[in-house]
Amino acid sequence: MKYALIGCGMIAPNHIKAALETGLEISALCDVNEAAARKILETIPEEKRAGTAVYTDHRRMLEEVRPELTALALGSGIKRRIACDCMEAGANVIVEKPVALSLEDADAMISAAEKNGVRLCVNHQLRFTPSVRAVKAAADSGAFGRLLHATAQVRRNRNKAYFDAAPWRGTWKDDGGTLMNQCIHYTDLLQWVLGDVEEVFAYTDRLTHPYIEAEDLGLALVRFRSGAYAAVEGTVNVYPNNLSDSMAFFGEQGTVDVSGKYLDEERRWMFSDGTASLAESLEKYGIRDLGAGHTPIYRDMLGALRENREPVCSGTEGRKALELILAIYESAASGKPVRLPLTRGATTDHIGRFDK
Ligand SMILES: NC(=O)c1ccc[n+]([C@@H]2O[C@H](COP(=O)([O-])OP(=O)(O)OC[C@H]3O[C@@H](n4cnc5c(N)ncnc54)[C@H](O)[C@@H]3O)[C@@H](O)[C@H]2O)c1
Repeated sequence: MKYALIGCGMIAPNHIKAALETGLEISALCDVNEAAARKILETIPEEKRAGTAVYTDHRRMLEEVRPELTALALGSGIKRRIACDCMEAGANVIVEKPVALSLEDADAMISAAEKNGVRLCVNHQLRFTPSVRAVKAAADSGAFGRLLHATAQVRRNRNKAYFDAAPWRGTWKDDGGTLMNQCIHYTDLLQWVLGDVEEVFAYTDRLTHPYIEAEDLGLALVRFRSGAYAAVEGTVNVYPNNLSDSMAFFGEQGTVDVSGKYLDEERRWMFSDGTASLAESLEKYGIRDLGAGHTPIYRDMLGALRENREPVCSGTEGRKALELILAIYESAASGKPVRLPLTRGATTDHIGRFDK
């Protein structure tokens, strides 16, 4: 299948690895910065890059290459325009998280997919890690009993060099802060496991990064329609470097507490049915390792295209993840609890919030 990557920056190598591992024909690389695209080209094994063209204009690339699948690894504010161009040209799209930075943009992207008969997939790749799939299987099969509450802690460090590396980072128009950029993977998982959110209350602040516009700390309390709760803690202020990412799920009949990049370091994994380790749950639910990084997202998207179904992380799922973070932003800005669903919302609603 003819594939093109648009945006050849920091996360691009993960997309190339996934494209190679899933047997896609990498027909084009596109970046407004030609040198960035050429650098990525050199990472592709020689025998696989003979037919890979380099472009600086995505429209020209779409016209000349006609890819069937495109991946967008771009600053978040420009995804709508480029995703819609791709879908109008008949290409299916895998877009990096977050799907967009406003509900209006996310809706336009979802409609473009429907109108043009193509699929839109959002890259929330943590859904495919074995431990997360085991938690989801345990929740869906009732092994947790009633799910009571969950936590997500994303304790990282992002320094000036990180934010200086691209002008869009930390801006309201093109990125948002730590909740929208780093934590959204974990808030997506909370919703995936616990279901739809009813209400949030949150604090956000910009404590140690005066050179960015958005938050570097976010603390949120979430109530789900099911009656379960969650607490979210996201920071990029950890001294002197990344500490840990961790999640816990507490049910009447089971507890899971995991940490690490792939949430596979078990602090507790215990169910009343006798399952007492991640390995046992993987066995019990028949969960196979689908590969690391972005590969499982690509595999699922290719499966969706073959089987004419929605991918696991569809545009609608990506919109839900976006909506929760926008609700958290609204609560923090207003000092009040915010109920979902939102009728509208955008990161740009908060321009200047920490400058007062
Ligand atoms: N899934 C993950 O775990 C993960 C990890 C890191 C980043 N991301 C996401 O990936 C996206 C990109 O992040 P990054 O860190 O690679 O960004 P980056 O700034 O390093 O790269 C973006 C690239 O897009 C190019 N670009 C800008 N405008 C363009 C246009 N109109 N046409 C073509 N190319 C254009 C830039 O020149 C740059 O090379 C963001 O949405 C980010 O949130 C996801």
